[in-house]
Amino acid sequence: MAAAREAGQQSELGRAALDHLWLHFTEMGGYAEPEDLQVIVKGDGCYLEDLGGRRYLDALAGLFCVNMGYGYGEEMGEAAAAQMRELPFAINWTFAHPRSIELAAELADLAPGDLNRAFFVSGGSEAVEAAWKLARQYHAARGERRWKAIARRVAYHGTTMGALSITGCTELRTPFEPLVPDVLHVANTNRFHRPREETEAEFTRFLLDELEATIVQAGPDTVAMVIMEPVQNSGGSFMPPAGYFEGVRAICDEHGILLCADEVITGFGRTGHWFASERFDIRPDLITSAKGLSSAYAAIGALIASERVMEPFTEPGAMYTHGVTFGGHPVQAAVALKNIEIMRRERIPEWVRENEPIPRRPGAAARAADRRRRARLRLLLRARAGQGQAGAHELRRRGMRRAAAPLRLPRAVQARLDLPRRRSRRPRRPDLPAAGGGTRGVRVHRVHARGRA
Ligand SMILES: Cc1ncc(COP(=O)(O)O)c(C=O)c1O
Repeated sequence: MAAAREAGQQSELGRAALDHLWLHFTEMGGYAEPEDLQVIVKGDGCYLEDLGGRRYLDALAGLFCVNMGYGYGEEMGEAAAAQMRELPFAINWTFAHPRSIELAAELADLAPGDLNRAFFVSGGSEAVEAAWKLARQYHAARGERRWKAIARRVAYHGTTMGALSITGCTELRTPFEPLVPDVLHVANTNRFHRPREETEAEFTRFLLDELEATIVQAGPDTVAMVIMEPVQNSGGSFMPPAGYFEGVRAICDEHGILLCADEVITGFGRTGHWFASERFDIRPDLITSAKGLSSAYAAIGALIASERVMEPFTEPGAMYTHGVTFGGHPVQAAVALKNIEIMRRERIPEWVRENEPIPRRPGAAARAADRRRRARLRLLLRARAGQGQAGAHELRRRGMRRAAAPLRLPRAVQARLDLPRRRSRRPRRPDLPAAGGGTRGVRVHRVHARGRA
C-alpha cells in the first residue's frame, strides 16, 4: 500500500517536474517517463534518499558544497527562523545589519593575511563576477585602465557571462560566444599529458614561463587579474606543483596584477584549512567563496579583499559601483554564521587534516582498481590524488594511455571533467550516483569535509 502510494507520488511529482521544472545543465527531452527523474526527498549525514526510498552516498557533497553533511538542519533552521523573526530582510547598500557585520568580521578572522573585507553575494558565479569587476575598478581608481583576466584551461568559475568568460571549459563557453572580452587561458596543473621524464620543478617552470609569456603578449599593463583555484576542481582535482603559487604570486607582483584565489570549492575545510590559500601559501589579493561558507544551507557567497585592494575605495568619492539585492541577506548570513560556529565546534579543518591520508591508502586504491577492472576499465591512480578531502581517481578504458575514452556522461559534466563528448539519449544527474548505486562511466569522488550518518 505504502509502496503504491509512493509510486503514485513519484509519478505525480515526476510529471509536474517534466511539465514545469527546468533543470540546470540537463537535456530535458531525455526523460521518457516521469519515473526516470530521481526526486531527492531526504538528506541525512552524508546520505540522500529519493522518493522511491533508495539511499545514496552523496560522495560529491551536493555540488561540492554540503561540507557539513545533511545532518544540521535543526540548528541551521533555528538560526534562520530566529533571524526571520527579528529581521527577515535588510539591504547592504549604504545600510548594514548585525549579521552581515558579524559574518564579515568572522571572515576577516578566518581568511589569511590582511584579507579583511567581505563583499557578499548570492553564490560562486556572482563572487567571480564581483572579483573581476572589482579588479577593474581597483586599477581605475589608481589611474590605470586594466581589464583583462587570466585563468586556466578547463577551470570552472561559473556561468554568468563574466564568470563564464573566465571559465575555461570549451563546451560550456561555445553556445554563448561571443563572450566578455578579454580573458586569456593558460595551462592548468594537470601533469597527465606531460612528458614522463619531466621533474616537478621542470613542470613548475613550464607553467610559470607560459603564464609570464601570456601576460607579456597580452600587454602587462592591460591585465587586471589572474584567477585560479588553489586545487583546480574541473578536470579532476589538479594539485599545484611545488613552487607554483609562489611563482604565480611573484609574476603578479612584478606586473602589478591582482591575484584572485577562487575558493568556491576549496574553502571551508575541504583542504584541511578554512581557506586553501593558507595551505598553499598563495597570498592572494582576493578570495572568492560560496558553497561551504554556509555548507549550502543558504545561498550566500563572498568576495574577500585585502586591505591593499580596499585602500583606493576608502578615498572620498570613491565607490565600488556594484551590488546585488540579496548580497549579505540577513537570513543567509545568519545561516553562514551558524555553519562556521558548527565547523569550529566540530573542529572540521583539523579533522580533515587528521584524516586526509585515509582516501589515499594504497589498499583502498588497489581495491577500487579491482572493482573498476571488472567493469572493463583500468583505473590509473595519478599523483593528483588530492589533499584534504578533495581528491580524484582517473579512469580510462583498458589500454588507453593518452587520449581519454568516450565515457558515458552528460555533456556539461564531460566538459568539466575534460573528457571528449558522447552522444547521450538519457540525461543523468551529474552530481549524484547512478540509480541502484551502479557506476556506468566515470565518477570522480569528492568526500565531504565530514559526513555523518
Ligand atoms: C571554482 C568555482 N567557482 C565558481 C563556481 C560557481 O559557483 P555557483 O554555481 O555558486 O555560481 C563554481 C561552481 O561549481 C566553482 O567550482
